[in-house]
Amino acid sequence: MLSLTGIDVFIQTSHILRGVSLEVGARDVVCLVGRNGSGKTTTLRTIMGYLHPRAGTIEFRGRPIHGHRTHEIARLGLGWAPEDSGIFSDLTVAENVEIATWTRPGGRPAAQRVDLAYGVFPVLRRYAARKGPEMSGGERKMLSIARALALDPEMLILDEPFEGLSPAIIPDVSAGIAAITGLGRAILIAESNIHHVPEYTTRLYVIERGEIIFGGPPDDAWRDASVSRIIGGPSR
Ligand SMILES: Nc1ncnc2c1ncn2[C@@H]1O[C@H](COP(=O)(O)OP(=O)(O)OP(=O)(O)O)[C@@H](O)[C@H]1O
Ligand SMILES: [Mg+2]
Repeated sequence: MLSLTGIDVFIQTSHILRGVSLEVGARDVVCLVGRNGSGKTTTLRTIMGYLHPRAGTIEFRGRPIHGHRTHEIARLGLGWAPEDSGIFSDLTVAENVEIATWTRPGGRPAAQRVDLAYGVFPVLRRYAARKGPEMSGGERKMLSIARALALDPEMLILDEPFEGLSPAIIPDVSAGIAAITGLGRAILIAESNIHHVPEYTTRLYVIERGEIIFGGPPDDAWRDASVSRIIGGPSR
């Protein structure tokens, strides 16, 4: 569904991503794991067209998307929930969710897409009339994912979706994300905390200093000495 091949990204004169290649298949849940500053957000922002690679290709659903603009990429069916949530603070929760149904017209009716978003995060329905500043960081995080879902995307890209959520709520959010994959969507998650990697992850990539140093099934990652040296091992 999504494939990156040999992506090199420079920010000003710094060479940030070096030959990054990764694949996300239909219904895959892929986790891109790495320490702070390893290049996760840069990889996701490059997929979404905020940064342009100096070398390499990015294909989504069989079409090249590198060099395309962000709104065109979103319209092809890539939903994006950034690290800092990026919700519209002047709008209410309900407006934030609804706006996504305009961003990508077509497909299922708007009401169904809004239901999909609230189905994953029922708590948001209670806060529908609240605005950004009246919400906690964790609530904003949920809203950001819900908004991406209301786009009715073929694939979701989530940058550290569990960061800032209280431990009590993480299993709910994780179950919500699993429900999305059950609906046939693919998911790419960036994560710096190995303990947040969902158990339903189908493939894991480890990034270190802008290079992919491992790609494969999670169980193989935990057996790889260089992986555990860099990111540790899972708690389970
Ligand atoms: N705008 C920028 N200008 C200069 N360097 C940048 C910029 N954005 C990112 N970098 C550098 O690129 C590298 C990768 O950053 P990136 O944000 O992709 O890391 P990350 O893996 O998402 O980290 P974190 O877990 O902290 O979110 C870092 O060394 C960072 O300092
Ligand atoms: Mg990041």
